[in-house]
Amino acid sequence: MTKPKLRVFSGIQPTGDLHIGNYIGALKVWAKNQDLYDNIFCVVDLHAITIPEAIKPVDFKKQIKQTVALYLACGLDPKKSAIFVQSTVPAHTELAWILNCITPVSWLEKMTQYKSKAKNRQSVGAGLLNYPVLMAADILLYQTDLVPVGDDQKQHVEIARDIAKRFNSIFGQTFRLPRSLIRQEGARIMGLDDPTQKMSKSIASQKADHAIFLSDRPEIIRRKIARAVTDNKNELLFKKASLGIKNLLTLYQIFSGKSQSVIEKLLTDKGYGFLKNEVSEAIIAELSPIQEQYQKIVKDEKLLQEILNRGTKKVEKIALKTLSDVKKKIGLS
Ligand code: TRP
Repeated sequence: MTKPKLRVFSGIQPTGDLHIGNYIGALKVWAKNQDLYDNIFCVVDLHAITIPEAIKPVDFKKQIKQTVALYLACGLDPKKSAIFVQSTVPAHTELAWILNCITPVSWLEKMTQYKSKAKNRQSVGAGLLNYPVLMAADILLYQTDLVPVGDDQKQHVEIARDIAKRFNSIFGQTFRLPRSLIRQEGARIMGLDDPTQKMSKSIASQKADHAIFLSDRPEIIRRKIARAVTDNKNELLFKKASLGIKNLLTLYQIFSGKSQSVIEKLLTDKGYGFLKNEVSEAIIAELSPIQEQYQKIVKDEKLLQEILNRGTKKVEKIALKTLSDVKKKIGLS
């Protein structure tokens, strides 16, 4: 008998353009490991409205379609992975409410992402505080084993695990305990303009040379890499390089698929200009076919809708089973 595959669940918010940091930490890994796991990938639209100014009713639908098209262009195969939109499965919000009632506010107030997003805002919606509880519901509804995410989301997976433990200990074994799956090398891709900051969507929306978007044309990629921060040491060894160069070396490693030692050999007697050229071309070589696919798929609304409908149908069954168990455990049904 073959062992059943572990279940993987992950999601991305449909908020505009994704950058290579998102791609490396999430989509690329999801696509690569599809055969190993039983996969569910979600477009988490309800998380996207936790910042009220992000809600734009017209753009929103379009952004969801674009995110799904990108999932497919990056290699997610609907035959191997269920793909769906969070808000089409109401069990997510239902379970989130129940979990809210057993989650201490003090846990939520300690979350790094909450603190940084709430900072500098005049008013913070309760949804922003409760964001991790909805994410816990996403994960726990499917009895998820593994959550492949970028390392900024590690704390969110840990709190999901803590919430599951708490529920299990109060009401009896109900949820499987999830773990995050974080890619080791390149877990943190830094900003090209400032390698002390993680590459981030919000900084990228303000600074043109901060991030490379998956939609960037080759000439834009070359220009952004050419402007990336370096130093005047000409040190190209992974262990000794300054932050900016280390970031470029890491990008080169990931996009070329070459090992560190092969890269160091290749760069002997070379300068930063050579490295930058190699990095740009490696990124372009990987993104070009994705962009081509994306352009084809994003126009096919019928196909996108079909894939989402199929995904929803498949995951709904699992979600309703868990939700019904939860309700029984707490006496609601
Ligand atoms: N918080 C995640 C992010 O911003 C998105 C997300 C929501 C998610 N629900 C999830 C990721 C469940 C993994 C599993 O990247």
